[in-house]
Amino acid sequence: MASTPLSKLAYQTLQQGKTIAGLAHKELSTKLMELMAPETVPKTEPVSSELLDELRRSMSALQERDWQDAEEGVYPVDLLFKAPWLDWASRYPLVWLDLPSTWDRRRDRNVRDLPDETEASIYPDYYLQNFHHQTDGYLSDHSAALYDLQVEILFNGTADAMRRRLLAPLKRGLRHFSDRSPSALRVLDVATGTGRMLQQIQRTLPHAELIGADLSAAYLRQANRWLNDSNDHLVQLVRSNAEQLPFKDHGLQAVTCVFLLHELPGDARQNVLNECCRVLEPGGVLVLADSVQLADSPQFDTALDNFRKVFHEPYYRDYISDDIETRLSDAGFDGIHAESHFMTRIWSAKKPLPIEV
Ligand SMILES: C[S@@+](CC[C@H](N)C(=O)[O-])C[C@H]1O[C@@H](n2cnc3c(N)ncnc32)[C@H](O)[C@@H]1O
Repeated sequence: MASTPLSKLAYQTLQQGKTIAGLAHKELSTKLMELMAPETVPKTEPVSSELLDELRRSMSALQERDWQDAEEGVYPVDLLFKAPWLDWASRYPLVWLDLPSTWDRRRDRNVRDLPDETEASIYPDYYLQNFHHQTDGYLSDHSAALYDLQVEILFNGTADAMRRRLLAPLKRGLRHFSDRSPSALRVLDVATGTGRMLQQIQRTLPHAELIGADLSAAYLRQANRWLNDSNDHLVQLVRSNAEQLPFKDHGLQAVTCVFLLHELPGDARQNVLNECCRVLEPGGVLVLADSVQLADSPQFDTALDNFRKVFHEPYYRDYISDDIETRLSDAGFDGIHAESHFMTRIWSAKKPLPIEV
């Protein structure tokens, strides 16, 4: 698809539609909760009109930037429209049917409601929880089937636009290896979940060897269905803990990681960054995306606090005050750069080349 005024209008209309759908879903589901389970309604801070204006402004800046990056060829324009629409439409009723059990868990403060067959010994303890009060945590096909839709609703249809902010720094970082064939580049997406970031990378770097790692076999099964059903290069999916990646030292040219850090305790966060550095070849690039933090987005402090109160996010308060730049530097990275887009902070960092003597 070419970038034309008409395709820009189509993109803007699509985004507006997703925003309206996300807002309407949240409004209706809150009303339903007030009616059916009033005791579970979380006590949040009121959102001021200034904050709402700021949220709207930064969301439209994100969408403008998303369009510009596509127009400038960072990624194909048709990526802006690519989503499993039919799948999502058929799964949407399940999101509603799932709500009552979410309310029950919130009311009972039950955050360890996981499938009986869960083999607890193969997961770190911090992982064995119902993040976002999600049914089965990350540990079932049911949870994996609903996850992308739930994230899209949470971010009013901007989740992929936020993920795509990784692509420009990723491509810039890979220029270090521009003397190599594109098919010699290996890119790992850590905590890939259902693989939505990899889908964006697959279209942007069609020749690169892509690998996704995650602790959840169910999420990887879903990723496999969405990533490996076409003639595109096969994506390799590996079940593993991001704190102990099963890859040799220096073997990858780029690593990405989206929406993981805020779900980890501080020491695990550091372990993951250390691992990302270990597996990268010197000169390789790490690009991270996660929630904005208090230091870079103080104007959103009420929104960040409300997020923590509405969803079970046990490490979020610690994360939003954490110094990720220092952690990256402690892990061995340099050339650290950070920027915010709507609710997402993007960090890029380079693994230094050895000093020649
Ligand atoms: C919020 S989701 C983000 C998924 C995906 N990156 C995205 O863009 O939507 C967090 C993911 O991190 C995975 N995860 C959490 N802790 C992990 C760990 N220690 N090692 C590997 N994966 C982990 C979960 O299974 C889940 O798929």
